[in-house]
Amino acid sequence: MSENKSPRPNSPEARDAASIIHPLTNLKTHLEQGPVVVAEGEGVWVTDIHGKKYIEGMSGLWCISLGYGQERLVAAAAEQMRRLPYYHLTNHKSHSPVIDLAEKLLEIAPVPMSKIWFANSGSEGNDSAVRIVWYYWTALGQPERRKLISHRQAYHGNTIAAASLSGMHYNHASFGLPLDGFLHITPPHHYRFADPGESEEDFASRLANDLDTLIQAEGPETVGAFFTEPVMGAGGVLGAPPPN
Ligand SMILES: Cc1ncc(COP(=O)(O)O)c(C=O)c1O
Repeated sequence: MSENKSPRPNSPEARDAASIIHPLTNLKTHLEQGPVVVAEGEGVWVTDIHGKKYIEGMSGLWCISLGYGQERLVAAAAEQMRRLPYYHLTNHKSHSPVIDLAEKLLEIAPVPMSKIWFANSGSEGNDSAVRIVWYYWTALGQPERRKLISHRQAYHGNTIAAASLSGMHYNHASFGLPLDGFLHITPPHHYRFADPGESEEDFASRLANDLDTLIQAEGPETVGAFFTEPVMGAGGVLGAPPPN
């Protein structure tokens, strides 16, 4: 989507480049070219401020999966904004929409779950997961269980713990990350990482063995959790291999 060349002075593109730092963006190129400024969306389409339309193949950043222009969502949001635009959950506070949503998520979760933790982004969600792992083991009297294992090529976000969990060079190189105790193993990418002639099942078994070997080498009593994805997104949109 980045086709702009040298934004006109005082254009939205120039004002953006002068005032905003964008994540996961080449900052030098951005200063030279500016952004694509999107004005509106309908269904799978978004339109920029110059009237050019694009298919939004990533559904926003994976979060507009119902498409743009959903009148039911507009009406529900407007009604809630009028009634109670915001309330927090700290210190024993709650509100009905969040209780309804938590119950719904527990009902449709693909595996049994006991509770929902709400966060404002994927990165914050993953930082929270790390915090909960450390909290859990500390509460059980095993605070040394702090190491976290995830996949190379995984993308878990941009906050400090989420970027450490991620296995992408661009998450780590300029930031002195990952933090100590964040360990990475081979992703379940049969096409790229299988040995010649290795079946998907044998590859999956090898990765499971590698994980076990790493845990034994690090000391199981120091490992807090393993982060893995049912579908790895940025690492190649990889589904899990079939179970043995
Ligand atoms: C699998 C996965 N985890 C975490 C994140 C980070 O989410 P956010 O950008 O909301 O912080 C993303 C973002 O694309 C993601 O795809």
